[in-house]
Amino acid sequence: METVKAEKEFRNYNQGEITAAVREHYRKMRSRQTYDYVRRMKQKYLSFDKPMYLWDAMEKLNALIDVSDPDLNLPNVQHLLQSAEAIREDGRPDWMQLVGLIHDLGKAMYLWGSDEDGTSQAEQWGLVGDVFVVGCALPDTCVYPEFNALNPDMKDERYNSTLGVYEPACGLDKLELAWGHDEYLYQVLANHPDNKIPEAGMVMIRYHSFYPWHTGGSYDAFLTKKDEQYREWILDFNRYDLYTKSPKLYDLEAAKDYYLPIAEKYLGAGPIMW
Ligand SMILES: [Fe+2]
Ligand SMILES: [Fe+2]
Repeated sequence: METVKAEKEFRNYNQGEITAAVREHYRKMRSRQTYDYVRRMKQKYLSFDKPMYLWDAMEKLNALIDVSDPDLNLPNVQHLLQSAEAIREDGRPDWMQLVGLIHDLGKAMYLWGSDEDGTSQAEQWGLVGDVFVVGCALPDTCVYPEFNALNPDMKDERYNSTLGVYEPACGLDKLELAWGHDEYLYQVLANHPDNKIPEAGMVMIRYHSFYPWHTGGSYDAFLTKKDEQYREWILDFNRYDLYTKSPKLYDLEAAKDYYLPIAEKYLGAGPIMW
C-alpha cells in the first residue's frame, strides 16, 4: 500500500526508531566537519581521474540507502526517479527533469570512499545530510543545533565568529560548505567539458542540502543580490526533492529510454570523470 504524507510530516527528526540513527549521523557530521577537514576532502576527492558513465553511477546508487534521511528507506536511485518523474509530470523543462534524476548522484563517492572520511556505506557523515558553512559560526537553524558546540572550530577564534574567514557579502559561491554529495557532483559536472546544464540546474545541484540557508534563513551577512535568485531556484527544486518521497517504486531500466537521451543532450554520451 502506498502512503501519501502531508507536508508537515516530512523532515520530522523526532519520530521514534529512525531518530537514533539520524541523530547519531548528525552528531558525527557536526563534530567532524571542520574547515580543515573540508579542504582536505576537496584535495582528495576532486581528482577527476575516474571515468564512469552516468547510467553506471545510477545503477551503483541502487545499493545505497541514505542514513540521514528520515523520510526514505529505499535505495537512493528510487528517490532520484521519484523526483525526476514529479518534475516531468509538472511539464517542467527537460534539463530540470535531468537535474531531478541526477541531483544526488554525488553519493556515488561512496564507491571510493572510506569510513575514516565518513564517505562509505557504513559512515556517511561526509556524504549526506544537511550542510552548513565551515569557517564561521554555526547557526541554530542547523538540525540538532545542540551538536554545534561539539565542532572543534567553534573553539577556534579564526572560525567561530559570524563572518569567520569570509568577507561580508562575499556571496554563496565563495563559502566552503560541509563536504558531501552536493559539492562533489557540482564540481564533477563543472569540470566535465560536455556539460550544458543551465546555471539554475547547477545551482540546484550545488546547494540543495543547504537547509540552514535556503529554508532556515541564516547566513544573511554573506548574501548578495545574486543569491536571492539562487534561493528562488533552490526552493522551486526543493519541492520535488522533498515532498515526492514515497514508497512508490520505479523501474530504472524502463526510465532509461526516456532519460538517457536527455542526459546525452546536456552531458554528452561519453563517460564522466569522477
Ligand atoms: Fe541530496
Ligand atoms: Fe535528494
